[in-house]
Amino acid sequence: MTKRLLYIALISVVTLLKLTAQESKNSATDTFEFVFLTDIHLQPEMNAPQGFQMAIDHVNQLKPDFVLTGGDLVFDAMRGNQSRCDTLFSLYKNMIKGFRMPVYHCLGNHDLFAIYDESPEKESHPDYKYGMFERYLGKTYYSFNHKGWHFIVLNSLDVTADKKYRGYFHQEQLSWLKQDLEMVDKSIPIVLVSHIPMINSRTQVTGGSGNSNVENAFEVFKMTEKYNLKLILQGHIHWKEYGFVNDRFHYITGGSIAGNGWKGRRHNTKEGFVRIKVTGDEFSWEYMDHGWEKERLRKANPVN
Ligand SMILES: [Fe+2]
Repeated sequence: MTKRLLYIALISVVTLLKLTAQESKNSATDTFEFVFLTDIHLQPEMNAPQGFQMAIDHVNQLKPDFVLTGGDLVFDAMRGNQSRCDTLFSLYKNMIKGFRMPVYHCLGNHDLFAIYDESPEKESHPDYKYGMFERYLGKTYYSFNHKGWHFIVLNSLDVTADKKYRGYFHQEQLSWLKQDLEMVDKSIPIVLVSHIPMINSRTQVTGGSGNSNVENAFEVFKMTEKYNLKLILQGHIHWKEYGFVNDRFHYITGGSIAGNGWKGRRHNTKEGFVRIKVTGDEFSWEYMDHGWEKERLRKANPVN
């Protein structure tokens, strides 16, 4: 009897989830907007709260349905000073109350707590690595539906044996992603968010090296092959780039809110964020200047 009830409950849940997917598919004719703000690097110094507030005000004027962030929400938790890091995450959490729409958080390398060798905290600390982000902001990977589109925010970070961060989608998350995708109709447009880029041209352009791509991004590309992967939104390198791969998926590396540590442009990209307009299962985008460069220059060169 108990087994039979369990079976009925299971069938009901699966039916409900598939129905949800079908409903999402049917409503993909809506028009809506959302914004993508990455690499905020919030800190009390460098006039960062003022710069972030200007971005918040600008977003509120645009009235998007929601805000997606791209990681590096604060600067910096990796070195593990507990009170400093609590201050940073509290500041972020207080400031985002200013958005007049939902905000979805993404984990960045600078949001990892105490992972560096120089950190005074041990790995056994409850806030270690993902712990502080989770305590303040919730899960490091998750998905949600909005007006017929499926959004997946990924955790693109892991820590190496020699205590450095690396771009990597850990296996537990990939198992979750497989299950998540099984509930999504193949026609539903999907947006992926990843702090570390899954694909980008930086090293080819600059000749540099470093952690500018997720090492096993191909696993996610493979898993989404049969789906309507529409767009990848990514951050980390404070780089602005758009690409469209094999008529299959688009990617946008979304510049940054902080620029070069709040001191100016990085890679010639002005501080800003991405505004995305969706119509049916297509989208358009533009990079928005929220006025911080002008204000930063005015502060640096005040009129006497
Ligand atoms: Fe960053």
